[in-house]
Order: sequence, then C-alpha cells, then structure tokens
Amino acid sequence: MKKTIQTTSTHKKLKLFQDAEAASLFVAHQIAELIRDKEKQGKTAVLGLATGNTPKGVYQELIRLYKNEGLSFKNVISFNLDEYYPILPDDQQSYTYFMRQYLFKHVDIKEQQINIPNTDFSEKGIAQYCQDYEDKIQSLGGMDFQLLGIGRNGHIGFNEPGSDFESKTRLVNLDSLTREDAKAAFGSLDKVPEKAISVGVQTISKAKKILLLALGERKSEIMQQAINGEITTEVPASFLQSLSQAEFVLDASAARAL
Ligand code: GLP
Repeated sequence: MKKTIQTTSTHKKLKLFQDAEAASLFVAHQIAELIRDKEKQGKTAVLGLATGNTPKGVYQELIRLYKNEGLSFKNVISFNLDEYYPILPDDQQSYTYFMRQYLFKHVDIKEQQINIPNTDFSEKGIAQYCQDYEDKIQSLGGMDFQLLGIGRNGHIGFNEPGSDFESKTRLVNLDSLTREDAKAAFGSLDKVPEKAISVGVQTISKAKKILLLALGERKSEIMQQAINGEITTEVPASFLQSLSQAEFVLDASAARAL
C-alpha cells in the first residue's frame, strides 16, 4: 500500500557540483575524514557501501588516498546494501565481485570486517540470515556513514517502489525497470535474478550520516521527484527528505530538472 509523509520543511539538503568528478571527490573526502576521525579516537568506522556505476569514482579516490596519502581501512567495518539472489560471490555480476574489483582488493581493509549479503545458501535460511545481517549492523551501533546511489525508479539499495519505510534487511522482488537496467551487465533479461537481499529503508535511515550520490542526465527526472516530490513509498529515496542527517549530492546533469 502506498504511504506518504507530510513535511512542512522546505529546507532541502543539496550539494551541487559541476561534474561527476567533483561530486565523487566530495563524497570520498567525507568518508576519508570520518575514517580518520574514528581512527584518532581508537574506534571503528562502520560504513554502508553501495554498488553500481555511480560510486566507482568515490572508490577510485579512496584507493588513491590509501596509496598516496596514508588513509588506512584497518579500522573500517563495511556493510554492503544489497546483493542479487541467487548469485554466487565469484560471479562477475555479483556485488561481492564488484566490491573486490573496485575497492577491497586495492586497500588494507580486513577480510573479516567486510560484510556483503551472501546468497550462497537455500531460500529456507534466508529470513534468519537477513535478521542476523540486520542484528550485526545494529549491534555495532548502526552505520556511521551510508553511501547511496539511486535507481531510475527511485530505489535505494534494492528497496523498490512500495518498500515500507519501516523495512529491514530482507529478500525482495526486483522491479521490472531495475531488471531492465541490469540486463546489459547480465547479457540478457532472463539471466537477471528476480530477487535480491537488501537492507531496509529503516536500516538506512538509522545511519548517522547519509549521502545519496546521483550523477548524469539519466538520473535527473528521478532526482526531481526524490528531492522535490512528495515523500512516498512509491519513490523510496524521497524518504531522505525527512532525515536531517541525509544529503543529496548531484552533478550538474543530474540536477538539470530541479
Ligand atoms: C543497483 C543497486 C543500487 C544502485 C543502482 C544504481 O540497482 N542495487 O544500490 O544505486 O543500481 O546503479 P548505477 O549507479 O549504475 O546507476
């Protein structure tokens, strides 16, 4: 059932940059600052990480900071937002593979501190697995930082239109537009999984800091809805309007329709 939230606040937290590189550097430097601050305090930094084309520039900059500027990931505990179901971690379309390729194999993060939903088991155990994933995040005090991209239908993680704002980590059905957009990576539509495991909208909303990064013209229409439209479960990213710790980071092309 569609749910909406009324908000009287017109204050929108927007960070606009002239191009994708500038926006990505901003996000990467926010993450690096958090990691360094936590390190100084002798604490871990709990990061919620995203996949897709959008965060690649962020990860590239984090790798550069690790290689050239002494940024260490030893105190980082990471939780990825989502993973296709079913898929094997070694499949090139899996988010486990993606994270290894685009970040983890290049930095000094400890293997045992990486968390990505693992779908290499029977459907029977999934509800418990999702509960355990959720509990693990909450037992660490929730995410210190959550990086988000956005799907063209407004999804965050794999929280598709209709996802409840109270949702937690669970098995979800993928939207037809999401599967269509994943077709190129998988080769054909019938190879794109119909399901995924995703942390919930509520899981995301508990993060202490949230940055949603949107790059390029193809995200401009959905960003207009997410930022200026009604807060509705039909556009899960619109929920971020109601969270004071959330900001939208856009390049000029993604901001074109605002
Ligand atoms: C997938 C991921 C999302 C991501 C989205 C956008 O659906 N599950 O977390 O935000 O893709 O991908 P891209 O950045 O490639 O546009």
